[in-house]
Amino acid sequence: MSASSEGTVVEALRWREGRLELIDQRFLPSRFDYVRCTNAADVAEAIRSMVVRGAPAIGCAAAFGIALEAHRQQDRRPREFHAAMEAAFKALAASRPTAVNLFWALERMRSALTVHRDNPKSAAAKLAEVALAIFQADLETNRAIGRAGMKHVPDGARILTHCNTGALATAGHGTALGVVRSARDAGKHISVIASETRPYLQGARLTAWELIQEKIPVTLITDNMAGHFMSQGKVDIVIVGADRIAANGDVANKIGTYPLAVLAQRHRIPFYVAAPLSTIDLKTANGKAIPIEERSASEVTGYAGVRWAPDGVAVANPAFDITPAKLVGALFTERGVTKRPNAAKIRDLFKR
Ligand code: MRU
Repeated sequence: MSASSEGTVVEALRWREGRLELIDQRFLPSRFDYVRCTNAADVAEAIRSMVVRGAPAIGCAAAFGIALEAHRQQDRRPREFHAAMEAAFKALAASRPTAVNLFWALERMRSALTVHRDNPKSAAAKLAEVALAIFQADLETNRAIGRAGMKHVPDGARILTHCNTGALATAGHGTALGVVRSARDAGKHISVIASETRPYLQGARLTAWELIQEKIPVTLITDNMAGHFMSQGKVDIVIVGADRIAANGDVANKIGTYPLAVLAQRHRIPFYVAAPLSTIDLKTANGKAIPIEERSASEVTGYAGVRWAPDGVAVANPAFDITPAKLVGALFTERGVTKRPNAAKIRDLFKR
């Protein structure tokens, strides 16, 4: 069995004959390499260390991690098999805390395992099938998000986006960048303003690289330039992705998203969020309840081994912030466009 993100230039995850290969996103764009994972611990470490990142891609990788482990353990007795699988679930669930797609994918894998609990070999076969289905469904989902969202992208639009939400962050096509791709494929003359996304530089390193591969016009700005560009009338719409959307529509996304939403409101620029239903967490009531990952101080005090902050300085490094639902003009999902999302509209999305 194999899977690839057909039709997209960039393949962040490749499932080849029961092996998972991940583009090593830590070193893009200066180095392009694939990392090979053969078990759940490899995948958990790849997620933790940002080899693979972006909410849907993390979910897909975790599902493949479970499939790899099941394959590795399938000749064991059921009891030993289950103990090994429990350890795999635990390691993957602990890899990163905010993107809910990780837990969503693990839940789906656990349900499949439960059905085949007494037969490790058939469990392993089923888990590989379900992981592949999660991956393929994510690609289809992103295309559906793109079709829905592009209707809100005027011809000639200058689209500001934050972080990386493209093929690198998903099974392919992307969420917010998927809307950009779909608009371009529909013949719209769009261009992108990519904010660099301090401190990990997903905008400068990954979005800029991905858009250049796709020949979509892109201008890179530092995060603190967004207000200036908006005030000069140089931004028509803002589209971002999400790591977790609470039941009331509050959005956790890459740190720096919330100030963009506030600025967009100030300048009456539409602010849109593009995300699959697997990013919506009905069990989390609102943004305050979303766990925010705190990352290493070294990402703030310097980059790639170069330190610019003085020794001894206190540092905070939350990786995500919360944009209140009331700042979101519309949510683009595979079920269409939800204007001004709120708790009732989000519940309805799951009933359709
Ligand atoms: O820390 P990262 O790079 O995993 O953060 C990624 C983001 O914040 C993305 O905007 C989000 O996951 C959506 S990706 C389609």
